[in-house]
Amino acid sequence: MKLLLLCLGLTLVCADKEENNDVVRSNFDLSKISGEWYSIGLASDRREKIEENGSMRLFVEYIDYLKNSSLFFKYHTIVNGECTENYLVSDPTEENGVYSVEYDGPNTFRILEADYNDHIIFYLENFNNDETFQLMELYGREPDVSPELKEKFVQICEEHGIDKENVLDLTKVNRCLQARDGGAP
Ligand SMILES: *[C@@H]1O[C@H](CO)[C@@H](O)[C@H](O)[C@H]1NC(C)=O
Ligand SMILES: *[C@@H]1O[C@H](CO)[C@@H](O)[C@H](O)[C@H]1NC(C)=O
Repeated sequence: MKLLLLCLGLTLVCADKEENNDVVRSNFDLSKISGEWYSIGLASDRREKIEENGSMRLFVEYIDYLKNSSLFFKYHTIVNGECTENYLVSDPTEENGVYSVEYDGPNTFRILEADYNDHIIFYLENFNNDETFQLMELYGREPDVSPELKEKFVQICEEHGIDKENVLDLTKVNRCLQARDGGAP
């Protein structure tokens, strides 16, 4: 019986490792975040920013890590019911891994964790008119991710003080998939 439990324990440890061994939480290789992404989770402590017609309700299509270390984002927003294509360029700041971008005021963001072939989680702070708010985004390489990862995203949001009710699952709404290059997957 002891041996059986030991085996079971080892299997769990191994399975756990297997699941997380590609997740990076520091020293990101930004060239590896280039390419196509899908917006999966979106959270903010100012909910109106991410609700319908909210300025931060963006749907990513791809990221390009530029030669000068800036990050280029192509995304869609819904303006008057129409999917509208847009671009943002964010520049590195003096702080390692922290980027800045002007959008609805000044913002800084960084990556919390990445599994370059699976998902990436961004943490952003907006400093418009001293009314700071936080934004968290979960992007997937595919249009959807595992329920476990979505649950983990909710947990990470809560750790940053964002209530569960303010975490949106964008896979359940119109994310302008049909407006992407090559259309819906
Ligand atoms: C968003 O904007 C559209 C078009 O202006 C409007 O019809 C719709 O009611 C708005 N939705 C919300 C939740 O305010
Ligand atoms: C890097 O290049 C892009 C595109 O040419 C430009 O928009 C951006 O401002 C540049 N970044 C820096 C830090 O100069």
